[in-house]
Amino acid sequence: MKQFIDSKFVKEISEITSNMYRLGWDERNGGNISYLIDEEDVREYFPKDVFIRDIDLQFTADEIVRNKYFLVTGTGKYFKNIIKDPETNLGLVKIDKNGQTAHLLWGYREGGKMTSEFPSHLMSHAARLKVNPNNRIIMHTHPTYTICMGTCIPTDEVIFTKKLWKSNTEAVVVFPEGIGVLPCMVCGTIEIGKATAEKMENFRLVSWTNHGIYGAGDNIDDAFGLIETVEKTAQIYMLTLGHVVNEIPDEVILGLAKLWNLKIMPGVIEEK
Ligand code: 13P
Ligand code: ZN
Repeated sequence: MKQFIDSKFVKEISEITSNMYRLGWDERNGGNISYLIDEEDVREYFPKDVFIRDIDLQFTADEIVRNKYFLVTGTGKYFKNIIKDPETNLGLVKIDKNGQTAHLLWGYREGGKMTSEFPSHLMSHAARLKVNPNNRIIMHTHPTYTICMGTCIPTDEVIFTKKLWKSNTEAVVVFPEGIGVLPCMVCGTIEIGKATAEKMENFRLVSWTNHGIYGAGDNIDDAFGLIETVEKTAQIYMLTLGHVVNEIPDEVILGLAKLWNLKIMPGVIEEK
């Protein structure tokens, strides 16, 4: 039988978390990823469900994610270590039919469990699946310049979006719907989960002020590409702060939107 540890899912998470660590985004145990895996893909490795143990979710998951399988980074685990020992640092869980328990199928050796941000992840999966049934990834990380930028500007998604779009011509093309913004909140809670998921109804990106960012996508490249574009743009913004001579004109942003046929976030750029 094929071993799950050799699957493309474990390989993809292992490779991206190594990259993210090397980018300096995921210090210590910072960051977490959850990957929704379709049942037919799970069956290639597990012909039937045999559970190792159950983990209490401590909240009730939305119906849309019940009976679904997620490969999830473990709480307290370091991104840099996943590639060396996926079976300790990752876990494959099935959300039970009542949405209250995660059944463990594989991983979390040594008694680990899902990231402390699992409420935000599952609630965000539910929100994204309702607008995009192909969404598979929720990614959370602590990119340095994105956090710097959120620290230096008002907690406002129109302002954050506008400053990003006006700093890098790629920004409006990659995230025309803009970026959602939450104020600084206590992380790892149901409250921040609900607030993040509410933003995920309209955005694939949500900034957690003073903490980090969430990205959603159909695959790892999608979610990572969104966050990587925000981080590159935030770096440009922070490095040029106080020295800007050539800000991207509104007409260029509107021109890009026209060229790529994009529906851009309303209220950010005034149409003339
Ligand atoms: P976990 O170790 O529980 O995944 O938490 C890391 C983190 O980034 C908290 O926001
Ligand atoms: Zn975090």
